[in-house]
Amino acid sequence: MRDRLALYNDNRLKLGLFGANCSSGRAVTMVPERWTGSWPDNLRLAQMADEAGIDFMLPIGRWKGYGGDTDYQGATLETVTWASGLLAKTKRMTVFGTVHAPLFHPVIAAKEFVTADHIGEGRFGLNVVCGWNEGEFDMFGATMREHEQRYEYAEEWLTVVKLAWTRPEQFDFDGRYLKLKGIRAKPKPYGGTRPLIMNAGASPTGQAFAIRNCDALFMNVRRGGLAETATRIREVQAEARGNGRELGVFTVGVITCKPTQKAAEEYYRHCIVEHADWAAVDSILAMKDIRPEAHSAEEFARIRNHQANGMGGLPIVGDPDTIAHELGTLTQAGLTGIGVSFVNYAEELPYFCAEVLPRLQRMGLREKVGA
Ligand SMILES: Cc1cc2nc3c(=O)[nH]c(=O)nc-3n(C[C@H](O)[C@H](O)[C@H](O)COP(=O)(O)O)c2cc1C
Repeated sequence: MRDRLALYNDNRLKLGLFGANCSSGRAVTMVPERWTGSWPDNLRLAQMADEAGIDFMLPIGRWKGYGGDTDYQGATLETVTWASGLLAKTKRMTVFGTVHAPLFHPVIAAKEFVTADHIGEGRFGLNVVCGWNEGEFDMFGATMREHEQRYEYAEEWLTVVKLAWTRPEQFDFDGRYLKLKGIRAKPKPYGGTRPLIMNAGASPTGQAFAIRNCDALFMNVRRGGLAETATRIREVQAEARGNGRELGVFTVGVITCKPTQKAAEEYYRHCIVEHADWAAVDSILAMKDIRPEAHSAEEFARIRNHQANGMGGLPIVGDPDTIAHELGTLTQAGLTGIGVSFVNYAEELPYFCAEVLPRLQRMGLREKVGA
């Protein structure tokens, strides 16, 4: 299990791709080269990333586009079936499914995860999410619970999934929300282990859920806030150890990597400022109840730009030296890894791998591929 939790390598900085199962990925832009999110593009990307030694792919569980001129994230591949397909066609990387606990029955979900895990021979991972967007739940005729209860429900849900993965005999479950009888679940996950489990709760309740139940927590970090992040990482890891578990802490970022700093900044401006899908950005902000009247004009402009580029992930813009240096500072702060996105993942990944990965190897943060 330890090898599995380390994603089967000794990389001190784990690198993954985040959001490729959705049209436009994480860049709310109108540029024509924006990411399609189609299956052929995802497959091509995953195989390229797998060859280059990228550690994981993390999809977004998204059911409804955000509108705007591009219907941002309007076309999305369902994440467990997406993961199963990619696991069948890759050799090394861990592929996550991102699953809304309230929308998937836990007994069906547990079996889907086991199936994906057998296909990937122990490389499936689970991102449990509780949902935050009422419009999505309406599509299912489901009611979104009040915030604290969402995580109470998710804890029961995850307990059932874990029991289904481990209990050799038939069992009943009598919880507050779930009352299930005579559950039998075979086979068990691959190789006597179980999928790595992550969560990305930002609230104290969400993070406490991750500390109690998960192997990895994803949190947003701010540039200039790394000292604060380092303290927070130490705190959550100490709490997890108190619960008898090791917790990896990851973040998400958006990379614009070009041969010169100037070229990177120009491309960033071109995609994310001059050609942002501002109508989609404003619709996302409204869903999160972020309104112009509550902020100064300058602060609101900053929030809009931040949302346009990576939906709040850390923007990392520069030449390969700058990018490698910035990634290094994240490891120094204690982060286990980062899930990154690009405007067009498959077009931009080869340059990133050719230039940034060797620098990270020289910095002692990554192994040589195949080492
Ligand atoms: C890396 C990352 C991935 C996430 N993926 C999803 C997702 O795919 N679907 C979703 O509904 N929410 C997703 N979220 C939202 C979180 O699960 C969580 O609901 C959000 O951070 C708010 O925290 P809270 O639930 O503790 O209030 C993600 C957040 C992050 C930082």
